[in-house]
Amino acid sequence: MASKSVVLSGIQPTGTLHIGNYFGAVKNYVALQEQYECFYSIVDYHAITVEHDPQELRKNTIEMALDLLACGLDPQKCTLFVQSQVPEHTELSWILSAVASYGDLQRMTQFKEKGEGQEFVSCGLFTYPVLQAADILIYKASKVPVGEDQIQHIELARRIARRFNSRFGETFPEPEVLLTEAPRVMSPADPTRKMSKSLGPKHYIALTEPEESIREKIKTAVTDIGPRTPEKSPGVANLFLLLKLTAPQEIYEQFESDYATGTLKYEPLKRAVADYLVKMLEPIRARRAQLKESDVREILHEGARRARAVARQTLEEARERIGVGKLLP
Ligand code: TRP
Repeated sequence: MASKSVVLSGIQPTGTLHIGNYFGAVKNYVALQEQYECFYSIVDYHAITVEHDPQELRKNTIEMALDLLACGLDPQKCTLFVQSQVPEHTELSWILSAVASYGDLQRMTQFKEKGEGQEFVSCGLFTYPVLQAADILIYKASKVPVGEDQIQHIELARRIARRFNSRFGETFPEPEVLLTEAPRVMSPADPTRKMSKSLGPKHYIALTEPEESIREKIKTAVTDIGPRTPEKSPGVANLFLLLKLTAPQEIYEQFESDYATGTLKYEPLKRAVADYLVKMLEPIRARRAQLKESDVREILHEGARRARAVARQTLEEARERIGVGKLLP
């Protein structure tokens, strides 16, 4: 049997996940583990490239692992680990920095955006995409499930792989972006913007949000100001999107047809969205409540052990290729 393609993705330890993260990425990670050899890394070393609080980082890393496991990442089917527990990533990153173009890094949109207007911009923020390339290449991953905002970074990883291969011999496959059509869930309080934690608590619904609070956020979600048009307003479209993602198809279609005939009232629509969302989140909540922090730590340690076994081999190979040879045992 042909061996499965390797998938890798990195997730910033932002603390708790929200439903935008779930529908936009995590749900897909869960599906991919059935089909591919998947590595999922909580990228704590990327998180330190902007100012951060060490206590928060520690807490957020565990919270992220808890949420991911609650969503259905299965340590029997995928390798979930914390990036800094596989120090080979950072060593490979240094090696790759020798074949990463300074000019390319200067063109990275995320660097420009995150650095803009800051009085201090770290060198780590600049080389962030090189570490990301190392995350991917160290597992010789061929597929990387990410959102559109990361395409530029994956392109860069391809260029890095290509330059390494041409200078030192075929070592790394060029990774491809695995763009699945991920729904973009918008903020209930400002449906012209993507759901995000950084906008503030009114703008996202956490996976672990208490039921009352979910209902309140949906109830007060922005809909229309003006008269109804054939084209849905962003807020109404967002409610329909959530309904589509959570409710049985007949229910969704009924609301669509009510909208089309102009008989739809927003109150029952919102009630349905809240009901189905609460229902969908229930098993995630239940799984999360069952997970003990000590079990999660054990899962992450086991994940790091598995990841390291692969990472060490690739690193050895890269070291050999560039002429620094073997480490002493
Ligand atoms: N830069 C990615 C983000 O902001 C996170 C990330 C780090 C990543 N390493 C990765 C994504 C490797 C995919 C593959 O979302």
